[in-house]
Amino acid sequence: MRTKPQPTSAPLDTATHAWRGATPRALMGEDPDLRAAYRLCRRTTQHHDPGIYALVQLMPAILRPACWALWAAASVLDDLVDQPDVEPAQRAARVEAWTRALKHDLAVGTSTDPIRYALVDAAGRWRLDLSSLQGAMARARDEAHGLRFTDWAEWRAWCNEELVPWVDQVRQLLERAGAPMTLRLDRQADYEQFIDGTQLTDILTDLSTDLADGLLLLPQETLERFPGAEADLVQGRWSPAVAALVAELTTLARRRVTRPAMTRGMHPGAANVLDTAADLMRAQLDAIEAAGPTLLTRPPRPSVAARTRVLVPARLRSALAWSLTPLTVPAPRPPAVGVSDPGPAAEDTGLRLPPPHPDGVRPPRIAADQMPSHVAVIMDGNGRWAEQRGLPRHEGHHAGTGAVYEMVYGALEIGLRHLTLYTFSTENWKRGTEEITSILRAVQHELDEGALRDLDVRQRWSGRPDKLPEDLVHALRREEHRTRTRTGLTLTVCINYGGRDEITRTAAALAKAALEGEVDPHLLDEEDFARHLPHPDMPDVDLLWRTGNEQRTSNFLPWHATYAELYFTPGYWPDNDRRDLWQAITEYSRRRRRHGGAPDPLASPENDRPSPQVQPAPRH
Ligand code: IPE
Ligand code: IPE
Ligand code: MG
Repeated sequence: MRTKPQPTSAPLDTATHAWRGATPRALMGEDPDLRAAYRLCRRTTQHHDPGIYALVQLMPAILRPACWALWAAASVLDDLVDQPDVEPAQRAARVEAWTRALKHDLAVGTSTDPIRYALVDAAGRWRLDLSSLQGAMARARDEAHGLRFTDWAEWRAWCNEELVPWVDQVRQLLERAGAPMTLRLDRQADYEQFIDGTQLTDILTDLSTDLADGLLLLPQETLERFPGAEADLVQGRWSPAVAALVAELTTLARRRVTRPAMTRGMHPGAANVLDTAADLMRAQLDAIEAAGPTLLTRPPRPSVAARTRVLVPARLRSALAWSLTPLTVPAPRPPAVGVSDPGPAAEDTGLRLPPPHPDGVRPPRIAADQMPSHVAVIMDGNGRWAEQRGLPRHEGHHAGTGAVYEMVYGALEIGLRHLTLYTFSTENWKRGTEEITSILRAVQHELDEGALRDLDVRQRWSGRPDKLPEDLVHALRREEHRTRTRTGLTLTVCINYGGRDEITRTAAALAKAALEGEVDPHLLDEEDFARHLPHPDMPDVDLLWRTGNEQRTSNFLPWHATYAELYFTPGYWPDNDRRDLWQAITEYSRRRRRHGGAPDPLASPENDRPSPQVQPAPRH
């Protein structure tokens, strides 16, 4: 997102970098319990992963407490997963209980558990969106049941869900502080390779402990190329096959973490963190190579001298880089999000800002607690728009793409986190072949053009692959992959999507998990169900908007939209632009949501609220 934190009211003078000498109180808050919680997180990080701890020390001091909180939370989850003496189902239940408690604590803004307390504070202070961590936490739970990968693609998918969301939180922190770790577009592939290499290095390091736990986190396709290696590993035997396998994987990991151009153009402080991580990984790989047979008995560690060679110059670089950088410090609880500030200059981030509206209109200011997180849109009326003009229906679909771009720009400008667009339903196959082909071709064309690719938009696709042209499925997955590290808007396009189909597929996934003994049907609850949805990290819909003068939901997001505020507008989809999205959000901000509770007697009557001003869009 291109919004900057609100100007600080914290006792830190960013202009003079006074944070560098800031007291723990300034860095971690006034509450002594909170400071103790952060200190515990620091110790936990240091104890659990000295390498990560050393990297956090390269972050600006003001961001370190939040990093400790994140890593301490990751460590707790790791520990819950790695409990060899506890039954897998029980480990999974513990991970889930912790995750559920975190969700509750985030909602109430505090916690009785010190690590969660620090994490809740860090999330509020830096406006972190922790929803992307839910997938990683669900992974941690599934991991408790044991993992197996057929090929590198499967391995990579796991690796991405496991590690990337945590790294993305750190990237969010740097961005909030005004020193984004933004990769140039042409360096995304390097970053992906780097993440793979990091994960592979970790797996090689922990080979002995994982094997003791019954885990072998390597893809079958590689294990099979070294006949006998898997059996030898499982029995803890260092054979020529194992030695050859380890040598190949070490070389592969080294190649992947060695990406000298990855940080080109990045802020030097942020680049230093990533470059040092790569140096530490290479030192770790040296230790793995030197370990030989002992790799199967204990995790190898680089020598103190090797670590010092990396860390001493890195600390000097870090001190210099951050001393030259004025950082932005947010107030403990920012009063509002919304009015877009261009934020870091586009040329610094490698990402483009949305083009302004031709009339120069700007989004209304919406208070943070009245802003929806997730807006879902049924973009209806393309056909009638065309018919009204005597044009063929496909012209209406073509005109509708312009409105799609407008909504994305408007969402970025107002600071919306999730926008989901209904593009083609499982029922739309009932239309004529010509119309279906024109709709799907238009989507393919827009994906290939890549007009959203250099905005801060994470693109996702929800729907069934079958019946869709192969090229389209490929293009949808390609864009998902290309944009997966973006932290601004998550844009989900629903293509060949049906709500009942989604529910049916989820029920099938649950039935399979039950058959495999992973879930107990007697104990199933809504959260179990949600975790088996095709996109478990999609948040509930706050606002469901349908254009085109129809008042129905047409099989759209039945699970997520059960408590959505509904909003129907008469205009046909192609006539809408970003102002209509802002108007929808403004209308939402005036609604009183109860979720089944009683009305709040102290709440002001609806119309007493000052309403943000949005210029109405002209109707055609
Ligand atoms: C919505 O517009 C787009 C799709 C369903 C693909 P329609 O094509 O349904 O437009 P109307 O409802 O016929 O006007
Ligand atoms: C819903 O619109 C589907 C999309 C917008 C993609 P439809 O036009 O297909 O819905 P119905 O037929 O009016 O319910
Ligand atoms: Mg329609």
